[in-house]
Amino acid sequence: MNSIAKKVIAIALTATMALGFAACSSSKGGMTVEEGKLVVATNAFFPPYEYYEGEDIVGIDAEIAQAVADKLGLELVIEDVSFDSILAGIQAGKYDIGCAGMTVTEDRLKSVNFTTTYATGIQSVIVLEGSEITDVDTLLAGDYIVGVQSGTTGDIYMSDTPENGGVGEDRVDRYARGNDAVVALLSGKVDAVVIDNEPAKSFVEANEGLAILDTAYAEEEYAMAINKENQELLDAVNQALAELEADGTLDAIITKYIPA
Ligand code: ARG
Repeated sequence: MNSIAKKVIAIALTATMALGFAACSSSKGGMTVEEGKLVVATNAFFPPYEYYEGEDIVGIDAEIAQAVADKLGLELVIEDVSFDSILAGIQAGKYDIGCAGMTVTEDRLKSVNFTTTYATGIQSVIVLEGSEITDVDTLLAGDYIVGVQSGTTGDIYMSDTPENGGVGEDRVDRYARGNDAVVALLSGKVDAVVIDNEPAKSFVEANEGLAILDTAYAEEEYAMAINKENQELLDAVNQALAELEADGTLDAIITKYIPA
């Protein structure tokens, strides 16, 4: 077990001992945008973190959000919105939490707080099978068009200048959903899609003729975003996450969707 996990468990144990049974059942209704509810914004086209199964939004984030809501004694309400509207909605007090496989970045930390990390990701490149783009350097060097989901870290990295490892704005096509970028790749509108590794794997599994390139991008940390003013909710969610980490719930949810 790494030291962060140990620390999380230590904190969880201390907090559990201090609060006793009260922590399990007390309602935290007053600190959310709608009394008694936990309004969670996501963009549900990002398997295995959030996606539709029939009418239902399922996935790692959906289950973790449910577990957190249960801990807080709140009713979970998931709102499926465009990814690039989540942070503004949290700032405006429309949603309590953004839970969308969202990467913690310095820039985002200027507008929202993030909870403790509950998962990690790496940016991946999807190409058509047999594509002449065989590695990231080829992708960056050519005049290829890259499809991304608007407002994501894939978008941010690719839109940066070539000196900074991007392809520049002109070569980036933005789509509202990850799926739409993949459809554009399949129909030849873009030459590659840059998106997080687990959704990339899901898209490649779900569609014939796609391949993933190895990349050397750094690992990103996923966390939930919360309004900067709402320290009470941040503390409560972190407490819930620590308990869910300590009792193995987080691990169980993640390995259910991403078998080791
Ligand atoms: N991890 C990436 C980011 O923060 C992509 C997240 C996209 N999430 C989604 N639910 N569509 O920016």
